Order: sequence, then structure tokens, then C-alpha cells
Amino acid sequence: MMAAAADRAPRVAWVTGAGKGIGRALAKRLADEGWTVAVSARTENDLKSLVAESPSGRIHAFPLDITNAGQAMVTVDVIENRLGSLSLVILNAGTHIPMSAEAFSAATMRKLVDVNLMGTVHCLDSVMHRFIERKAGHIAVVASLAGYRGLPTSAAYGATKAGLINMCEALKPELAVHDVRLTLINPGFVETPLTEKNDFPMPFLIPVDAAVEYIMQGLNGNAFEIAFPRRFAWLMKFLRILPDSLFFAITRRMLRT
Ligand SMILES: NC(=O)c1ccc[n+]([C@@H]2O[C@H](COP(=O)([O-])OP(=O)(O)OC[C@H]3O[C@@H](n4cnc5c(N)ncnc54)[C@H](OP(=O)(O)O)[C@@H]3O)[C@@H](O)[C@H]2O)c1
Repeated sequence: MMAAAADRAPRVAWVTGAGKGIGRALAKRLADEGWTVAVSARTENDLKSLVAESPSGRIHAFPLDITNAGQAMVTVDVIENRLGSLSLVILNAGTHIPMSAEAFSAATMRKLVDVNLMGTVHCLDSVMHRFIERKAGHIAVVASLAGYRGLPTSAAYGATKAGLINMCEALKPELAVHDVRLTLINPGFVETPLTEKNDFPMPFLIPVDAAVEYIMQGLNGNAFEIAFPRRFAWLMKFLRILPDSLFFAITRRMLRT
């Protein structure tokens, strides 16, 4: 009886950066699969249109700027009071600003650290302790294949994503002790408003729905990392084991293309 009641309880997920791109498509997919979904981003109109596009009525908007730690804490409180305890959190919000050596600036670095790294940390801080206390919950952090090794013009973006990857590797076994699951999501190039701005060739670029498919399959499986598309992920993993001389020969060529 208890198990049947638990099965019927609504599963509540929170997706950050859900106004556009990967987060938006993922929120829709989760709602289609029966999840009650809390969605956050700064642009309220994006969230409103997402809620309006969801015929199931399962998507609920909670505007948030993840760079504001206090606001992140309050948002999680409000979500759980309105929708019930979260069981899945997808920390996806992030942004990209290319930064060449000539344009290197502390301001750009700080902006990306504030959003991609510290913004994700604020959201993590606001849910992780609840999950540890409950001995339940699944957290997924969206980093990037660009976090594997330093790539030209990605000194700032790559550093934030490498930071997320390292942080997740550190936390994974500690959270497992408390029965909290942590998944790392490392996408390659995905067609979203973020990549629309890129003026360089994007190898293995995939539509957003294909990215959502990889993510959903991964979330339902047991692996720590969801890296996609697979061939590009393997190529990027190979770069990690290349000796520096070969690796820099490749990245110098990337500068000339
Ligand atoms: N697209 C790719 O090829 C790719 C590849 C690897 C990794 N990723 C990662 O995947 C994630 C999603 O990327 P995407 O391509 O879907 O990006 P996107 O289309 O630009 O969407 C990003 C979302 O994050 C939100 N966001 C940005 N700054 C925020 C802030 N300070 N507070 C709250 N929300 C914020 C944006 O909404 P507002 O601006 O309204 O806040 C938007 O809804 C990012 O972490 C990105 O780094 C993407």
C-alpha cells in the first residue's frame, strides 16, 4: 500500500536555465513524461511562454538569477512549499562568452565564473543539504566537453566548466554515502540560442531534441557522466590523454581555421 501511494506521488523536478535551449526542451520532455517541473531563468517572458506551451499544466515558473545566492535559497523554499519535495534537480543554466588572448579580461572571466560556476554552486548549496538530510534525490550538473582540456578562445568558459567537472567528481562518492545521486552532463555542440552566435564550424552539431534524448536516457541509467554526441565525446576524451606537444599542435591548427 505504501509503495503504491509513493508511486502515485508527483515527481517534482527543477530545471535551471529553462527559458531557452537545452533547459527549455528538457523541461517540456520531463513534463510530457509526467513530472511536475519547476523552471527557472531570468527572463520571465520565456518562462511564461514555456508554461503556456505546456498543455499538461505541469510546468511552473520560478524566475531566478542564479548569481544571487539568497534568491536561489528562497526559490528552492518556494518551489518545495508550492509543488512538494524535489526529487530531481538539473542545474543547466549557463552562458558562453568567447575570450581570445587579445581580449582577455578579468571582467569576462568573473562574469562566466559568477554564472556558470558560482551560479551553479548557489543552486547546489540550496538543494544538496536537503537531499542529504532526506537521504534521497538526484542532482544533475550541466558542464561541457569544453571542460576536458583548454581550447582556444575558451579560457574563461572552459575554466568554469572544468571547475564544475572537478567539483562533481569530488562530490560524487561523498553524496553516494548519503544516497544522493549526482550526474554530470557534458554536451558537445547543440543547436540553441547559445550556439547560434558562434561564427566558427561546430563539429558534430546536434539538434536540441537529440540532446534531450541523450540526457533522458542517461538520467534513467546509472552512469556518472552523460557525454554526447558519443563520437565527439570520445574524440574529446582522446584529447585528454594526448601528450601536450600533440595536443597543442592540434589547438594551434584550430586557430588557423
Ligand atoms: N548549446 C551547446 O552547444 C552547449 C554545449 C555544451 C554545454 N552547454 C551548456 O548547456 C547549458 C545550456 O546551454 P544552452 O545552449 O541551452 O544555452 P541558452 O540557449 O543560452 O540558454 C541558457 C539558459 O540559461 C539561462 N541563464 C543564463 N544566465 C542565467 C542566470 N544568471 N540566472 C538564471 N538563468 C540564467 C538563460 O535565461 P536568461 O538569460 O533569461 O536568464 C537561458 O534560459 C549551459 O550551461 C551551457 O554552458 C551548451
